[in-house]
Amino acid sequence: MAPKITKAVFPVAGMGTRFLPATKASPKEMLPIVDKPLIQYAVDEAISAGITELIFITGRNKRSIEDHFDKAYELETELELKNKTKLLDIVQNILPSNVNCIYIRQAEALGLGHAVLTASSVVGNEPFAVILADELIDANPGALAQMIDVYNQTGSSVLGVNEVPPDEVSSYGIIKLADKSLKYKKIEKIVEKPKKENAPSNLAAVGRYILTPRIFNELRNTQRGVGGEIQLTDAISEVLNYEAIFAHVIEGKRYDCGSKLGYLEATIGFGLKHPEVGNEFREYLKALQASL
Ligand code: G1P
Repeated sequence: MAPKITKAVFPVAGMGTRFLPATKASPKEMLPIVDKPLIQYAVDEAISAGITELIFITGRNKRSIEDHFDKAYELETELELKNKTKLLDIVQNILPSNVNCIYIRQAEALGLGHAVLTASSVVGNEPFAVILADELIDANPGALAQMIDVYNQTGSSVLGVNEVPPDEVSSYGIIKLADKSLKYKKIEKIVEKPKKENAPSNLAAVGRYILTPRIFNELRNTQRGVGGEIQLTDAISEVLNYEAIFAHVIEGKRYDCGSKLGYLEATIGFGLKHPEVGNEFREYLKALQASL
């Protein structure tokens, strides 16, 4: 039986330049979609897939992520005094009690591959998950839970993928499948941010990975690639020389919250589903559309 996946790595050291000035002093992962920061959506997805160890690879200006998942004494006392039990409940139950957070500082932001390698001593010799919080995936079961299903069947690394428009392939790690007809989609090849004319397909890695510890061996030897960064994709490509890796086409709605448009779309998608404001928001949008 494949070992259970209990650890997830959240690389959160990036600068978030696409959202300046909002991200000048606070992390992009703390940008809210309605009332929850992006990082909490990612953490919730991990927990619902059975993850109990959350490993954050952080950097400068990321303190608020640690604070978000920590106890907030002053706020809790205040809410208690004012008898705001519902809000107190929300604040106190951000994480279940069996879940632990570990924070590692990535001194230099040398790329996603480097961030994942920074987690090696904490992850140790076991398979683990990686979640990129700016890829927000609304799915039930959650994207990572879907992938763990495939991992449990195959015992191999699994990449979460989705089709993207041909014009967008140069923004993603793009995979080529060995044989499309098989039940489990074996990956033949992966390339980081190929030009449209060289892309082996339009199936993109969308920020969800289940990786075996073999990845660390390869990352230690990975040279800087696209954009001068140590790319996770390049190390995955090396792992393919030794191990099978499968793709899982994620069923759900994906929002690229690393882009302004994707972020706005996510706000609308989650706003419409929100138990408190969803109905009123729908009416507002209908009226707005009529006036456009
Ligand atoms: C990273 C990965 C890329 C992946 C993408 C998903 O790129 O390097 O392979 O497809 O995330 O969002 P980034 O968006 O950080 O440039």
